[in-house]
Parts: sequence; structure tokens; C-alpha cells
Amino acid sequence: MTHVSRTTPDPTAITALLGHDTMWRRVESVESTGSTNADLAALARLGEPEGHVLVAAEQTAGRGRLDRSWVSPKGASLSLSMLLRPHHEFPRWGWLSLLTGMAVAAALRDIAPDPSRVQLKWPNDVLIDGGKVCGILSERIEHPSGARAVVGLGLNLDLGRDDLPVPSATSLSLEGFPVDREHIVAGVLGQMERYYSRWQTSGSLSAEYEAGCSSVGSNLTITVAPDIVVRGRGHGVNEFGRLQVATATGIETFAVGDVVHARMHH
Ligand code: BTN
Repeated sequence: MTHVSRTTPDPTAITALLGHDTMWRRVESVESTGSTNADLAALARLGEPEGHVLVAAEQTAGRGRLDRSWVSPKGASLSLSMLLRPHHEFPRWGWLSLLTGMAVAAALRDIAPDPSRVQLKWPNDVLIDGGKVCGILSERIEHPSGARAVVGLGLNLDLGRDDLPVPSATSLSLEGFPVDREHIVAGVLGQMERYYSRWQTSGSLSAEYEAGCSSVGSNLTITVAPDIVVRGRGHGVNEFGRLQVATATGIETFAVGDVVHARMHH
């Protein structure tokens, strides 16, 4: 039991840190589940309103982007999903993953020994010195009363070098960041509310996203299919959160793809 209480974030402490004036109506925390996104998607299908949060200390069937799986080892990572109900038309929902990346990056900068080490890679990877510390996955769930979004993030907390799923990953503890689970969850949720409510009002956070995303201004490759790799320089993001890349033949715009920066530290 000591092990459980050490690694499963305490929802009462999180709620206390968030205070009363918060959009997060309900914060649940479990030791282990298949996928926090799948759990909230099931609730969304039943018409659950916006503001429900589910946190897990372990996932046994975590889902990643582009139909990949996501490894969330017991106790060493944080899986967090949020149920939202955006009022924008669907093409703008691409912003959900991007603004979640902005929120995680802001929360990590708040606890960083050196905030400039935290960067964003389009669309939503959060990096510390070029190593991926957080991945984000958004899903749309239809409901007769209005579609919901489930936005999930996986954050590597205290994985050791040998526990990393891929060499290009890193963890907060490996980078010398403090790992206080409740503080991190409350920090992410607080920043998420700020960015999400601003997006609900404005529909686009392009200028701010561009300022914080290291893909913009970097030489990069973007893989859009196994055999389609485009090379260019990150130019910006459009009003739908799509990446614009300056290539030899002009500006091309991408809704999905795997970006690799030319000069990554990892
Ligand atoms: C990526 O491929 O980079 C995205 C990974 C997203 C993982 C998170 S962990 C919480 C939520 N539940 C899931 O099953 N996936 C997301």
C-alpha cells in the first residue's frame, strides 16, 4: 500500500491545489487502468459533461498517436486525460493537442531549473533539451447533445535511463526536474484551463504557439507516410494548427506527420 500511495496522485490534494474557481469539476485518480483516454471516452459516450479528469499511475493498454501504443510504466509515469466540449467547428479541433502541449510546457517551465530547456515540437511533443518527456493524444467522441473531446497526456516522471521506451525519450527526474505528482497535475490542469479557455474565445493561438515551438524556424523533415518525407524549414502554424513548412517548391501545409528537427540534442 505504501507503494500505491507514493505513486498514485492524491485527488484530494490536487483538488485543494486547484481551488474552487476551476473548470475541473471532478478529478479521479487510479493506480492502474488500460487507457485513461479509453475510460473517459466511455463516459463521453454516455454524455458526461466537460471538466472530468482521470489520472493513472500505470496504463496497461496506452494509446499513442498514429495508432501506436504508449508505454506508461507503473509508478514512473503519469497518464492524465481530460474530457472537454469545444464549441468550435471540427477543423479547429486540431488546436486541442497543440494547446495541451503549450499548457504542459508552461507547467514544466514553472518548475524547471532553467525554463529555456523546455520546448515544443509540432504538433504536441513536449521536449526537454530535445528529449521527449510528454506525448499527447486527442480523440473526438460523438454524442447527440454535442461532440466531446478526450485529450490525454503521458508524462515521463522518474523513469531511469534503462526504462526509457526509446532513446529519444527522457524523464523529468533524468533532467533534474522535481517530481511532485500532485503539484505537477495541478500545474498542468491550471495551465490547461488558461489555454483552453483562451482558445474557446479566440479559436486560434497561432502567434503564441509559434513563439514557443522550436519546429518554427528549424530545419526539419516531416514524414507524412512511410515513403513520403518532406524536407524544409518550419514556417509557422495556420488558424487550424497545421504546420506550414517552407520547402524548395514553396510553402506546404501539414495536418499530421512526424517531425524531426535537424539539430536535436538526443
Ligand atoms: C504520442 O504518441 O506521443 C501520444 C501519447 C499519448 C499518451 C496518453 S497517456 C494518457 C492518455 N491515455 C492513452 O491511452 N493515451 C494518452
